[in-house]
Amino acid sequence: MGRSSSTRVSLLFLLHVSMVIQQQAQGEIPQNTRILIDKANAEGPYIGVVIPNPFELEPLLQSPAFHGSSIIDFAGRRFRFGAMAGKKVILVMTGLAMVNAGVTTQLLLSLFNVKGVVHYGIAGNANPSFHVGDVTIPRYWAHIGLWNWQRYGQGVEDELALEAQGDYSREYGNIRFADYTTNTKRCINATTCISTTPRVATVLRGASASIFVDNAAYRASLYDNFNVTPIEMESAGVALICHQQKVPFITIRALSDLAGGGSAESNEADTFLPLASTNSVLVVEEFIKKLDYYSVYVQ
Ligand SMILES: *[C@@H]1O[C@H](CO)[C@@H](O)[C@H](O)[C@H]1NC(C)=O
Repeated sequence: MGRSSSTRVSLLFLLHVSMVIQQQAQGEIPQNTRILIDKANAEGPYIGVVIPNPFELEPLLQSPAFHGSSIIDFAGRRFRFGAMAGKKVILVMTGLAMVNAGVTTQLLLSLFNVKGVVHYGIAGNANPSFHVGDVTIPRYWAHIGLWNWQRYGQGVEDELALEAQGDYSREYGNIRFADYTTNTKRCINATTCISTTPRVATVLRGASASIFVDNAAYRASLYDNFNVTPIEMESAGVALICHQQKVPFITIRALSDLAGGGSAESNEADTFLPLASTNSVLVVEEFIKKLDYYSVYVQ
């Protein structure tokens, strides 16, 4: 090998490096995906429907209210396009907990022409005046569980330092959520029902953390100190991103159990979890149907 051929090899190498750099400079979205995204956005705007888990997504996919059209997969998320009550929607499942919720919502808002976000699912309950199957719409969300751990005996806050961070208020227009109660279900089959008709109600606060709360003392503390009703693992992450991007946001969470037990109902949580998922979906359908103050959505 002479000098010139090794120069040629170096040049090829440099060329390759510069092509790689150029591709990176264009971002991490493959071109065929970029084309699909542009096409979808030209047909927007959309309502983004953000869903935590498969058992909450599935009742909506199975519902006659949802008409699916196409799918775009990107960054480990599946964005499902379709329509509900004549309004264009994008469904996306986050996966469990706060990191997934935040990342997925940011992807949704960065990639797509989304004018509002509806988030729904099930939740633990901290409020003794609510029951399994009830659907709650909190006015504020707190990201809790941001612990300050300290060594015992070295300060006044030796135990849990609980912070309620970030209140996110939302616009509801003049919606009367109590009217939605007529749509909720109380039976999972012909023989197994909860004793009362599940109601739909706005509540003051919900709380999210990457912690599954199954602890009666902690549940009581959240309710007594912060007037929290639903406790779950995603809404504050979705709320934070929507708040930062100034996108209207609502969370609809059906209660599946009294977090930490302490009542006859808590033993029934597993039985009625599908009922709670279904009730959250029914309220989402009703909400999107009545969502006409964003006239831009109406086709
Ligand atoms: C209804 O569901 C309950 C709880 O899952 C079950 O034990 C019962 O057998 C079911 N009844 C019918 C009629 O399917």
